[in-house]
Amino acid sequence: MKHLVEIQQFDRASIQKLFKLASSYEGQRDESLKGKILAALFYEPSTRTRLSFSSAMLRLGGSVITMESGGTSSQAKGETLEDSIKVISQYADAIAMRHQETGSAARAAAVSSVPIVNAGDGNMGQHPTQALLDLYTIQRELGREDGIHVAIVGNLRYYRAARSLSYILGKYKDMSITFVSSPELAMADDVKAYLKRHRVKWTETQDMNTVLQSADVIYQTRIAKEWIKNDEEYEKQRGRYVIDREVADSMKDGAIIIHPLPRIGEITDDVDTSPHAVYFKQVGYGLIVRMALLKTLLGGKKS
Ligand code: CP
Repeated sequence: MKHLVEIQQFDRASIQKLFKLASSYEGQRDESLKGKILAALFYEPSTRTRLSFSSAMLRLGGSVITMESGGTSSQAKGETLEDSIKVISQYADAIAMRHQETGSAARAAAVSSVPIVNAGDGNMGQHPTQALLDLYTIQRELGREDGIHVAIVGNLRYYRAARSLSYILGKYKDMSITFVSSPELAMADDVKAYLKRHRVKWTETQDMNTVLQSADVIYQTRIAKEWIKNDEEYEKQRGRYVIDREVADSMKDGAIIIHPLPRIGEITDDVDTSPHAVYFKQVGYGLIVRMALLKTLLGGKKS
C-alpha cells in the first residue's frame, strides 16, 4: 500500500498484521523512523488525529512539519490542493491530510510522490485511520474478531468515521449492524449496498432502546454542526440520542461504548466511570495504531 485513501484497501490479513505491530508498541518508543519527516496537513480542525499522528511520529524517532487551514498557508492565495501536494511531497516522506472536501484524499494521492494518509475527507468521505483504531478497540476489548453486533448511533449520513467503520466491519464474519438514527441522518445507500454485498446483516431503527440489551458495541457519534448547515435542522437533531448513566446501566454485561470524539453532550460525563465506557481508552489505542501505520508506510528497522 502506498497511500491510505479508503479503509476498503485493507483485508483481514493486513489488518491483523497491523494490529499485532500496534500491540507491540504499547508503552514503547524507538528510533526506527529517525530522519523521516511527516507533514501534518490539516485544512479542518482536529485535536486527536493531528496530535496522535504527530506523537506517533515523534515516538518512532521521526519529525513532523505542520500546516493548518486559515491565513497562514498559500491556500489563502488560491493555490490548488494539487499544487500544494506537489510541493509538500518534496519536503516530507509522508503526508497525513484532513480536508473538508469529499474525494480530496484521492486527488492528493493522484499527484503525490510520497504516501498520503487520509485523516478525514469531507462529510461523506472517509476517516480510515479512525476506523482502524475503532476496530482495534472493539477487537481488543471484546477479545474476538467475528460475530459482533455493532449499533452505530446518531449522525450516520454526515459522519465519515461511521462510514469507514461500516466498511471495515464488512471484512469479518457473522457481523451485524444496527443503524440508529433519525430518517434525516440515516446511513447513505452506498454503504448499505456494500454491506449487502459483503453479507453483513444490517437493520435500521429510530429507537436506541431496542439495541441496549443486544449490542456488543454502541458507537455513539456527534451531531456535527459544521456539516449540518441548517441551524434549525441542527437544533432538531441535537440531543435526540443521548447516552446517560441510566442508558449505560441498561446495556448488557461486557458491552462497550465507543465514540471517535469530540463529544458535545451525546454522552454525559457520569458515563465516564461506567464499566461500559472505553472512549478515552480508545484514544490511547489510536496512538499505537497510528505508530504501526506510519511504520508500515515508511519502513525502517525496528530498533
Ligand atoms: N476523532 C477525530 O477525528 O477527532 P479530531 O477531529 O479531534 O481529530
